Amino acid sequence: MIKETKEKEVNFGFQIVKESQKQEKVQKVFSDVAKKYDLMNDLMSFGVHRIWKEKFISEVRPGSEKILLDLAGGTGDIALKFVQGGGKRAIICDLNNEMLEHGNKKRFNKGLYNLPLETVCANAENLPFQDNTFDCCTISFGIRNFSNIPKALQEVRRVLKPGGRFLCLEFSQINNKVLRKFYEFYSFNIIPKIGKLVARSEDHYLYLSESIKLFPRAQKFAYIVEEAGFEFVTFSKLTFGIVAIHRGYKL
Ligand SMILES: C[S@@+](CC[C@H](N)C(=O)[O-])C[C@H]1O[C@@H](n2cnc3c(N)ncnc32)[C@H](O)[C@@H]1O
Repeated sequence: MIKETKEKEVNFGFQIVKESQKQEKVQKVFSDVAKKYDLMNDLMSFGVHRIWKEKFISEVRPGSEKILLDLAGGTGDIALKFVQGGGKRAIICDLNNEMLEHGNKKRFNKGLYNLPLETVCANAENLPFQDNTFDCCTISFGIRNFSNIPKALQEVRRVLKPGGRFLCLEFSQINNKVLRKFYEFYSFNIIPKIGKLVARSEDHYLYLSESIKLFPRAQKFAYIVEEAGFEFVTFSKLTFGIVAIHRGYKL
């Protein structure tokens, strides 16, 4: 008897959709907002995302021997900081070509074209790289958009060299109840309005808020990273727990 295989269902914000539909919807979000993406980050976070990213890259510790894979790299903030900090080479890998192109244009306009940076348009869940290639792999504000997080983590582990490190910067849960209420009010009522005004897209920024609310708490996400085979998994929360940095090693 031939068994029908049913496609897994996942969350796209508060909606339940098929895995492949989530990918299409996420693609549409980032294609639509690519040009305003960096400006929106500054506005929504009052510039604080820059501090989070600085802290994150300081943990990556760029070194002249190191090759970085920045997954869901978007417009390339992390990879750029890595090579400017002395890293040998960085690959910015993202599923969305518009995000990559916008990042290329931005660097070009700033005269930053002779850097050891490459862009690769690919799905984090099926990476076009050989096993044991990279010293470090980062994902910054990308992983909650993936349709199949365990699969992507396995891919990260596969392409890291033995001893290589995985670092993830992602939104998390605020511990303090009062602050959390205030943050959720801001997230669900103000952010979509800024999105409407600046990026002409209320729905896409509502998806952002919903996806943040649904993303696992820091401890649970640490277990997910461990389940993918990473060792010495640790995490720390920044700014009252608005975001967290997770780390793990491939041994
Ligand atoms: C919020 S942006 C983060 C960009 C950048 N890392 C940063 O910190 O500013 C999320 C990025 O994840 C990318 N993305 C979503 N799903 C992906 C997947 N399955 N594989 C690779 N990239 C993906 C999107 O195209 C988008 O550029």
